[in-house]
Amino acid sequence: MQQKVLILDFGSQFTQLIARRVRELNIYCEIHPYNSLKVDVDDYKAVILSGSPHSVRGEDAPKPDLSKIKGKKPLLGVCYGAQYLAHFFGGKVGASKTREYGRANLSFVDHASHLFDGIEKDSQVWMSHSDTILSLPENYTKIASTHDVENAAYRIEGEETYAIQFHPEVYHSTDGLTLLKNFLVNIADVAQDWTPDSFVETTVAALKAKVGNDKVVLGLSGGVDSTVAAVLLDKAIGKNLHCIFVNNGLLRKNEFESVLKQYEGMGLNVKGVDASDRFLTALAGEADPEKKRKIIGGCFIDVFDDESHKLTDVKWLAQGTIYPDVIESVSANGGPSATIKSHHNVGGLPDFMKLKIVEPLRMIFKDEVRRVGKSMGIDPELLGRHPFPGPGMGIRILGDITAEKVRILQEVDAVFINGLKAWGLYDKVWQAGAMLLPVNSVGVMGDERTYEKVVALRAVESTDGMTADWVDLPYKFLQETSNKIINNVKGVNRVVYDISSKPPATIEWE
Ligand code: XMP
Repeated sequence: MQQKVLILDFGSQFTQLIARRVRELNIYCEIHPYNSLKVDVDDYKAVILSGSPHSVRGEDAPKPDLSKIKGKKPLLGVCYGAQYLAHFFGGKVGASKTREYGRANLSFVDHASHLFDGIEKDSQVWMSHSDTILSLPENYTKIASTHDVENAAYRIEGEETYAIQFHPEVYHSTDGLTLLKNFLVNIADVAQDWTPDSFVETTVAALKAKVGNDKVVLGLSGGVDSTVAAVLLDKAIGKNLHCIFVNNGLLRKNEFESVLKQYEGMGLNVKGVDASDRFLTALAGEADPEKKRKIIGGCFIDVFDDESHKLTDVKWLAQGTIYPDVIESVSANGGPSATIKSHHNVGGLPDFMKLKIVEPLRMIFKDEVRRVGKSMGIDPELLGRHPFPGPGMGIRILGDITAEKVRILQEVDAVFINGLKAWGLYDKVWQAGAMLLPVNSVGVMGDERTYEKVVALRAVESTDGMTADWVDLPYKFLQETSNKIINNVKGVNRVVYDISSKPPATIEWE
C-alpha cells in the first residue's frame, strides 16, 4: 500500500505549496479540508496542519477534531497549525508587536529535536502572520527562534508533534524542504516511494481494473494533460481508447495537422475531426466575450457528442483533470468547503451522454504530469508546450471572429512563438501569444498610407496561471519580432507589447 501523508487545510493560500513540496520529496500526500474530512486518518502515516487566514482568537477560528491524530501520529503544525496547537492546549497567542511578514533568519536552533538536522542557526525562513505565540504550554519545548519571533518552532514532549511559525513550503525558506524531509522521513519514517514510474505502474493497473474491457472516449487538445492522460490509458487498455482531436478552427497555425501526426506517431488510436467551419459559422457576428466562450464550448460538446455516438458501446469519458481542479477549498469564512472547479474544456458535458468519468491525473499536480509524461517517453517538446486556452484564438481575437482574422492572428502568433524558440526564450516564458485588437490604426508603408490592424503580444511568467507577471523580453527581440510581423503579415501595421500583470489584468484579453 502506498504510504501517504494527510494535509489538513485551514484555508491558507500556501496549502497547495505544502503538498507540492511533499511530493517533491517523492512522498504521496493529500489535501483535505479540516471541516469536512471524508477520509480515515488511520490510513495516513503523518499529518501536517496548514496555515490559515484566521486568527485562533477569532470567533470563527477553525477548531479541528485532532482526537485521532495528536499524540497518536507524527504531527507538524505550520503557522496557524502551530498557533492552534499552542493556544488551545494551555499556551497563549496574541497580536504580534513587530513586523512578522517576509524574510527572517533563525537566531536560535535546538538540534536535539532532529527537526532542524542540517539546518544552521542563521538559515532564512519566510514569515507570514499577524498573531504570535506569546507563551507555550508546560510540556512544550521551544526549538527555534528568530530575532522577532521567540517561539518560531517547538515540539511537544512525549509526542511526535512539532510546530513551526514560519512557512517551510515557500521557496524563501531556504531550508524548508530539508525541514519537511526531517519531519516526514527521519521523524515520521514515511517512505519516499512516490515516483513517476511508480505512479505509472499503479495508475495503469488501477485503470485496467476500473475500465476492464470497456471502451473509453477522450478529447485530446494538444496540451500536456490530455496527452499524458491518453498515454496512460493507452498503456492500460490500448485500442479500446478512442481519442478525438477536434479542430475548432481557432488553433495555432498548422497545429491541427502537426499535432495529429504526432499523436499518430505515438501509436494512439486517434481521430482528427476538422470542424473549423462549424465553429466559425456558429460564431459569426458575435462580439461578446462570454457569449463567444459559450458558443465555442457548446460547439465542442456537439462535435464531440456526434463523434462519440459514431463509436458503439462507449462506457467511459476520460478527462485530463488535475489535482488543483479537484481540491476542495476551505472557504474564507471557514464554512463548509465550497467550490470544486469543473474542468475548463469539457466541463459542461451534457447528461445525455451518460458516460462514466475516468480521470487518471486527478491526484497529481501539473509539474508531476510533466514528470510522468517524461517517464513514459513523451516528446519533451510536447511536454514543454505553453498552456493554450480551450477556446483558443477565439478569446484572443477581440470582438467578432472571421476566418480572415483567424488567419492574421495565426500568422502573427507563429512569428512570435517561432521567434521565442529561435532566441532560446520559449522555455523561459510560462505562456505567450498574440491578441488581435478590434481597432485599425494609420501607418505608412513606402509612400502609401495604410489603415490596418493592431496586434498585441503577451508573454507572462507564472506557476499556475492564477497570478502572472509580464516578461521583460529583450528589446532587440521585440524589435525583430515587430518588424517581421509588420513586414510579413498582411493586414497588420502596428505591434504593441502588453505590460500588465495579473491581477488586475488577466492573461487572456477576453
Ligand atoms: P486568465 O485569462 O483567466 O487565464 O488569466 C488563466 C489561464 O487559463 C487559460 N484559460 C483557459 N484555458 N479554457 C482553458 O482551457 C478556457 O476557457 C480558458 N480561459 C483562460 C489561459 O490561457 C491562462 O493560461
